[in-house]
Amino acid sequence: MCGIIGISALPGSLPEPLGRVIRRCLERLEYRGYDSAGIAVVNGEALIVRKGKGKISELAVKLKFDLLDGVSGIGHTRWATHGKPSDSNAHPHLDCLEKIAVVHNGIISNYLELKQRLEAQGHTFRSETDTEVIAHLVEEYVRQGLDLLDAFRKAVCELDGTYAIAMISVLDPCKVYFARKTSPLIVGLCSGFNIVASDIPALLEYTSSVIVLHDGELGYITPTEVYIERDGVPVSWRDRVRTITWSLEMATKGGYPHFMLKEIHEQPLALTNTLTGLDLDTVRSVCRLLDRTDRVFITGAGTSYHAGLVGEYLLTELCGLDAHTFIASEYRKYMNIADENSVLIAISQSGETIDTLMAVRSLRKTGCKVIAISNVIDSTIPRESDHVVYTRAGPEIGVAATKTFTTQILTLTVIALELARMRERLSSTEYSKLLTSLKEIPRLVEQILRIHEIKAKVLARYIKDRQNMYYLGRGLGVPIAMEGALKLKEIAYIHAEAYPAGESKHGPIALVESGFPVVFVVLDDYYVDSTVSNIMEMRARDAYVITLCPVKYAQKLSRLSDFLFELPNIDYRLAPIPYIIPLQLLAYYTSVMRGLDPDKPRNLAKTVTVE
Ligand code: F6R
Repeated sequence: MCGIIGISALPGSLPEPLGRVIRRCLERLEYRGYDSAGIAVVNGEALIVRKGKGKISELAVKLKFDLLDGVSGIGHTRWATHGKPSDSNAHPHLDCLEKIAVVHNGIISNYLELKQRLEAQGHTFRSETDTEVIAHLVEEYVRQGLDLLDAFRKAVCELDGTYAIAMISVLDPCKVYFARKTSPLIVGLCSGFNIVASDIPALLEYTSSVIVLHDGELGYITPTEVYIERDGVPVSWRDRVRTITWSLEMATKGGYPHFMLKEIHEQPLALTNTLTGLDLDTVRSVCRLLDRTDRVFITGAGTSYHAGLVGEYLLTELCGLDAHTFIASEYRKYMNIADENSVLIAISQSGETIDTLMAVRSLRKTGCKVIAISNVIDSTIPRESDHVVYTRAGPEIGVAATKTFTTQILTLTVIALELARMRERLSSTEYSKLLTSLKEIPRLVEQILRIHEIKAKVLARYIKDRQNMYYLGRGLGVPIAMEGALKLKEIAYIHAEAYPAGESKHGPIALVESGFPVVFVVLDDYYVDSTVSNIMEMRARDAYVITLCPVKYAQKLSRLSDFLFELPNIDYRLAPIPYIIPLQLLAYYTSVMRGLDPDKPRNLAKTVTVE
């Protein structure tokens, strides 16, 4: 959802020219959008801007980003909201006199009325974006006699909507001004220079010391100073400096052709780190809270919603809770039934997805307590929740979520097991058995990656030429089918739909004809026979049947399947993690074989900060 960067540097303090540093930071933010990109720097008396439609790597060559130098600079990589992707809509945006340059992530919801007012005051606009009003507003207040900080503050006060803003100006060359409301923004503390950025990966090459800005804060950085204020009052930030433990290597491809493939392969480690790094005191307090509650809501968007569905199943079945998962953007109706006796589990890898944040804020108003599950320390959703359990997947750069999905499920599984034991719904023998199996999962995932990667590649050759596909499952197989379908849809652009297998005969089967691929996720003994019936129904229509099942059913199901993934025998309640792996690989290889870039699917961006 757009990535922004701003750097203020003493001459000679950066390892490379400013333009090159900003370009490299932007490349690490490109997962947030890649419709257009641009950089502006203040060099002496001049404000130099280079921007255009397209990906950063192409623009860097065409516009020679690396040759730009100066004392301060800003950069932007865009996911278009207001105004189509074009050179003129690319950020940074300027005021009339070209003395002020602004980059922005978010949506200024009152931009039309501000624009009309500014046009009436004589300002000329060059783009269709909402962002441009910010540059003209600041210009207007400077023209009326305010200094730059006062003008910036006054302009920001007039903005409705969401924003992370960075601004530079020849009027005050060494400062990068910033403001934040809802859209994420952090400050990186470096030696001889400072950085503001949308997200941690942008900074990893230069610092591990960051301050996460809070909603309503604005200020500026110079090479040696950070100034933050809130409601006009300076904020003391020194005790808010955090040390990031992610390494730079984690945010690079490390020899893999794509981040997505690297992240799929990182799952054994991400799962181990999450399991060993779980704060058991927090898990126990979360369990005590869940134990006392009448009703549990679970929410998230996209992949995190699918993890929530797994969580719902486990909390219901293992713990006997009344749990219900909803898609975060559909939070409104749950405000009517949530109250102080209910709990919301909000799942978000980024901790910044606005739909999930709105659900958190709205349900909290009812008195409902919120437990966040997130991968990003100090991000907004964790900060606004009563309890936080962090996954330790490391940075996820590929737009399609993979390792964060499996670590979210792992976290939910640990919570469900602990609570089931607390509620005496699992005997200590059953609990120990399940926990031992859970600890085995990273090894199973490693094994699946070793054995099934090549099979997924072979299957991708068949899938790459299809236009439609079904993913069917029962019980815990349903969210896995949903996640498999989402992965294929988003990175291979093949229409894929998931259904509970039993539902397939109530409509979806009408589309099935010879060669139509249907994936069956079979992971629960209880459902084997009924799923076999659904497989038979599909076979009778000449569907191409792809089955994922435990080895123990391989013989039975291989006769009924055109393609079989034989997966480890494991308690079905723990199966979602290993069983999604072949489907992640299938989506990845299908995308690659279709000549697409799985890391940058069209129209998508990671961390969706607009509603
Ligand atoms: C799909 C995907 C998205 C995210 C969704 C929520 O591969 O990545 O569907 O899962 O945008 O993001 P978070 O988890 O950051 O709230």
